[in-house]
Amino acid sequence: MKAIQETARVIRNERITKRLWWCTYESPGIAATARAGQFAHALCGDPWSFDPMLRRPLSFSRVDQAEGRIAFLIDVVGRGTDWLVRQDPGAEIDLLGPLGTWFEWQPDSTRALFVGGGIGLAPLLVMADGAAAGGVESTILCGARDAAGVTPADWIPERATYLTATDDGSQGHAGVITDLVPNWWDWAEQVFVCGPTPMLEAISTLSESLGLRRGQRPVFASLEARMGCAVGVCYSCVVRTTHGVKRVCRDGPVFRQDTLSWQWTHD
Ligand SMILES: Cc1cc2nc3c(=O)[nH]c(=O)nc-3n(C[C@H](O)[C@H](O)[C@H](O)COP(=O)(O)OP(=O)(O)OC[C@H]3O[C@@H](n4cnc5c(N)ncnc54)[C@H](O)[C@@H]3O)c2cc1C
Ligand code: FES
Repeated sequence: MKAIQETARVIRNERITKRLWWCTYESPGIAATARAGQFAHALCGDPWSFDPMLRRPLSFSRVDQAEGRIAFLIDVVGRGTDWLVRQDPGAEIDLLGPLGTWFEWQPDSTRALFVGGGIGLAPLLVMADGAAAGGVESTILCGARDAAGVTPADWIPERATYLTATDDGSQGHAGVITDLVPNWWDWAEQVFVCGPTPMLEAISTLSESLGLRRGQRPVFASLEARMGCAVGVCYSCVVRTTHGVKRVCRDGPVFRQDTLSWQWTHD
């Protein structure tokens, strides 16, 4: 699937917590081929200002092909995301996408576990929407530093079991989200994760100790990395894997978790 450059139109930007926003765009060309786990590279400023110069990667959190719409779950952490959420309905945003690899769904799976750390929940929501539509039982675990980083239940597919954890105990389980993973491990047939490196590393260690039960598929992880070009040219986003050095933007962001090497994060 070839990425395209498209001028998307803001439909609405909704503030859903103190920090998180749900931003919906009309972007029919990108919506036509976007898949769960893929992302768009967004220009976050006036095209002629070159400020900020680099685009910002954002995962699709909802894709509605019939309506030609996409949505991003945005954590406002800097200039680019702040600019995006302040745009009024009708404003135009320059997007490049869809980019990267996607989550693979096994059609005969009946129970899926999704684990998101902070804004890592964003790419999992498209997958969870698809699971809900296909009658798959889903459990979604969302962890964050505090309640402002937790996606409210209204934005989660209705039929999914939704459990949260916060470091400061302001919502859900007091502690890290990986504390909850062992309770669901044997239940799940497929596991999809996305979040900061320490969370992914913890799930890797857990999955080694818990093992895969019979019939369970390998875990799929979506990685976060600082990106320059997002099209595989600049090598600013590399990670080490069992198959050598890979680019998160082009060879990922979705990888089989058992191919990832965490040693480099401690070098
Ligand atoms: C594949 C992918 C998908 C993503 N999807 C989403 C999504 O759906 N929603 C979402 O909200 N975010 C998502 N992100 C993260 C988002 O792209 C980044 O947080 C982005 O940098 C925000 O831009 P900004 O201008 O608002 O903040 P920035 O100015 O880029 O700053 C963001 C944070 O990073 C720190 N930082 C800045 N430069 C560096 C550097 N060189 N090294 C280390 N840290 C630095 C800053 O101090 C700040 O804390 C995704 C990232 C990737 C790789
Ligand atoms: S961001 Fe340029 S190669 Fe990945």
